[in-house]
Amino acid sequence: MTGENQARADVQASPEGVQASPDVEASPDVEASSVRDVVSPLPALDETDIEASLRPKRLIEFVGQAKVREQLQVVLESAMRRNRPPDHVLLSGPPGLGKTSLAMIIAAELGAPFRLTSGPAIERAGDLAALLTSLGDGEVLFIDEIHRIARPAEELLYMAMEDFRVDVIVGKGPGATAIPLELSPFTLIGATTRAGLLTGPLRDRFGFTAHMDFYDVPELERVITRSAQLLGVRLTDEGAAEIASRSRGTPRIANRLLRRVRDFAEVRADGVVTAPVAQDALAVYDVDEMGLDRLDKAVLDALVRRFGGGPVGVSTLAVAVGEEIETVEEVAEPFLVRAGLLARTPRGRVAMPAAWHHLGLTPPSAAVGGPTLFDA
Ligand SMILES: Nc1ncnc2c1ncn2[C@@H]1O[C@H](COP(=O)(O)OP(=O)(O)O)[C@@H](O)[C@H]1O
Ligand SMILES: [Mg+2]
Repeated sequence: MTGENQARADVQASPEGVQASPDVEASPDVEASSVRDVVSPLPALDETDIEASLRPKRLIEFVGQAKVREQLQVVLESAMRRNRPPDHVLLSGPPGLGKTSLAMIIAAELGAPFRLTSGPAIERAGDLAALLTSLGDGEVLFIDEIHRIARPAEELLYMAMEDFRVDVIVGKGPGATAIPLELSPFTLIGATTRAGLLTGPLRDRFGFTAHMDFYDVPELERVITRSAQLLGVRLTDEGAAEIASRSRGTPRIANRLLRRVRDFAEVRADGVVTAPVAQDALAVYDVDEMGLDRLDKAVLDALVRRFGGGPVGVSTLAVAVGEEIETVEEVAEPFLVRAGLLARTPRGRVAMPAAWHHLGLTPPSAAVGGPTLFDA
């Protein structure tokens, strides 16, 4: 059954699966253009193995996100006591914050098999039906980028999530019949960078939603220290702090910067990652004090220099930096907003005074549009 193979395709192992869907053509470009950037929150194409080796395997190893961890613990424990699969879980948040890791941890904590696919890989409802009917009792099905699932497949998912049932259509035209099939109870975990793009009916069928937020510097220091131990890198506390403060609140970036600094320490120093070694290394890789990457800098630069600080619509801004709107919104803006550099207002994007300062410029004295702009 080819549909089953397709639906089962591991997103990380099969980029072709992503390319095949006509409405997601942007995806390979997004990745390709970001591979160059050492501080991109998206995984580079050759990072799959190293990421897998650094992934926390159990909830107790998962750094930060204290609230999400505590809530999940309760959800999982109560499900195990009742001997029932837990409610479906939705994980939302920017790339690189640990959604895939957490999904795998949930399966590990439940002692349940883990099946991984992605929204763009499920092109037809039949693919999804084949996948769902193959699930065993209590299995965990992870659908990454669930907001990009094709509509007919999404509709099939409603009934599957709610009643553990699917209608499989057999035949074509007037002779077609729907054959209802029972499914084994399973837990769906959906991950999305864009919770706002999920349809209401899909969102409502998740019993538990966790919003992952950027990590603070002490949390990132713990991520880096843990990874250094796993990689056998010698690292001082100050070295960890230096890397943490430039990691854009993102564990994936923290781990990548650690590896780049380690390389530098081995070649140019005695192999120990100290604060001065980290500073020198990160200067070589063009990572600034805030960890802004090429796209972040391009967005700020366009906003301030071309549009006088805004307000400007996101589509105009995306054209100005030569990126998809989706990339600007999902990859660059969350951190720029969080860092107080950019504001999203009803009239468009606006540069905050800190953005001007970061570019070495003086903000105009009458802040663009005045304070009322931020009231809404
Ligand atoms: N809370 C965490 N603790 C430790 N490492 C983490 C944590 N979150 C993410 N990581 C690291 O960051 C990498 C990327 O995480 P991942 O789960 O793939 O993020 P996402 O799916 O949200 O893009 C993982 O390989 C893991 O090593
Ligand atoms: Mg992921």
